[in-house]
Amino acid sequence: MITFKIDGQQVKARPGWTVLETAREHGIEIPTLCFHPAVSASGACRLCMVELREGTWSKLVASCIYPVAEGLQVHTDTERVRNVRRWVLEMLLAACPASPEIAALAAKYDVVRTRFTSHDPDQTCMVCGLCARVCDEVVGLSAIAIVDRGVHKRVGAPFAKPTDICVACGSCVTVCPTGAMQAIFDSVRGEPTTALTQLAAQ
Ligand code: SF4
Ligand code: FES
Repeated sequence: MITFKIDGQQVKARPGWTVLETAREHGIEIPTLCFHPAVSASGACRLCMVELREGTWSKLVASCIYPVAEGLQVHTDTERVRNVRRWVLEMLLAACPASPEIAALAAKYDVVRTRFTSHDPDQTCMVCGLCARVCDEVVGLSAIAIVDRGVHKRVGAPFAKPTDICVACGSCVTVCPTGAMQAIFDSVRGEPTTALTQLAAQ
C-alpha cells in the first residue's frame, strides 16, 4: 500500500490508484463532472483540481488523473484550489448556460455569474466526452464520438455520419453530468437512432 496525506489525514492507496479514487475511498469530497468510476478518466473538465505541496513548492493537478505516490501532501480546499474551482465553474456557466445541473453545481460553490462570454444561450453540453466513453468502454458500441476540433468540437455520431448501431440503452443519458443527452433523447421519443442522427446532422 502507498501512504500519503490528504488535508492532513493519513490515507492508504493501492498502487495505480489516483488521488481522487483515494479521496473517495476515505470519504473526502472533491467535486467532479467528467469523471465516472465505470470508465477511464479523461481530465477534461478540471473541476477536480487539488493542490500538491512540498515545503514552499506547490502545484495544482487534476485529481482524477493524478497517480498516488508515497509521501504526497494533497490539499483539497486551499485558497488556490477554491480560486481555480470558481474559475472552472465560471467557464462552465458560459459554456453551458442552459444546463440546470451546471448552474446548481456552480451555486453550491457560490458561483452565480460568469465573466466569460457565452456563445450559445441554449447550450447544455460541455463536450466532456463521458457519453462517448461509456458507449465505447461499457456498452461496447462506439455509437457516439467527439467530432470536429477546437471551438467546433461537439458530440456526434462517428465520422459525423448517421449511425444505426445505437440500441437506445440510455447509458449515455445516465452518465451525462449536464443533462445534455437527456434533452436530445426527450426530443425524439422512442426513435432509438434518431437522436444520434440529429447529432450527426448538426
Ligand atoms: S452530452 Fe453530456 S456526457 Fe456527452 S459530452 Fe456533452 S456533457 Fe459530456
Ligand atoms: S473530474 Fe477530473 S478533470 Fe473532470
